[in-house]
Amino acid sequence: MKKLAVIYHSAHGHTAYIAQHIAEGARALEDMDVHLLKAEDLTGNPQQLLAFDGFVFGSPTYLGGVSATFKAFMDATGGLWKGHRLKGKLAAGFTVSSLPAGDKQSTLLSMFVFAMQHGMLWVGNAILPEQHSGVPYDEAANRLGSWSGLMAQAGHSAAADSFVPGDIKTAHMFGRNVAQALLRMGLATALAA
Ligand SMILES: Cc1cc2nc3c(=O)[nH]c(=O)nc-3n(C[C@H](O)[C@H](O)[C@H](O)COP(=O)(O)O)c2cc1C
Repeated sequence: MKKLAVIYHSAHGHTAYIAQHIAEGARALEDMDVHLLKAEDLTGNPQQLLAFDGFVFGSPTYLGGVSATFKAFMDATGGLWKGHRLKGKLAAGFTVSSLPAGDKQSTLLSMFVFAMQHGMLWVGNAILPEQHSGVPYDEAANRLGSWSGLMAQAGHSAAADSFVPGDIKTAHMFGRNVAQALLRMGLATALAA
């Protein structure tokens, strides 16, 4: 059994909604124990991270970066960094913003650098954009064409569940892919032992 934590901040529910779908995708695999955790609940006690084999980090894009709440969580892990206590754990990231581009890439990069500083192993979003195979744009997995992590878009001031079907599909596939990578990593560790 592998333990995966989807750790997110969401002020208005959009990032939380995508986090739930990523967790559902990961739970579709056997031998996965998937937890949905709010970043702000970990900031006071980052030692809780030690219990997990892998993480999916999620934040809304705020002014081209992670939200202050998510950054506070990241900064709270400084003590764990000193001993490289999270080294070798798996990491992946996602972000939601209101504009088609909206500088979401910059948010994913800050999560990637955070994971690299901790010595984690980064998993991207290995999904070909399905609109290239004739799937209608709004229904296409990875319609936004992001491979370093998952991107989703929710209209400005729209309801928390107002995503096009393609973004929900991407979230499920992403969760499943990350879980698969975590299970394969466990096998590699067992073989190396
Ligand atoms: C302070 C602030 C900064 C934002 N900056 C961006 C931005 O740089 N790019 C963008 O596309 N959307 C931006 N947005 C929109 C949010 O990313 C978007 O509403 C997102 O869905 C919020 O997620 P949440 O509902 O999980 O809080 C910003 C919103 C706020 C409140």
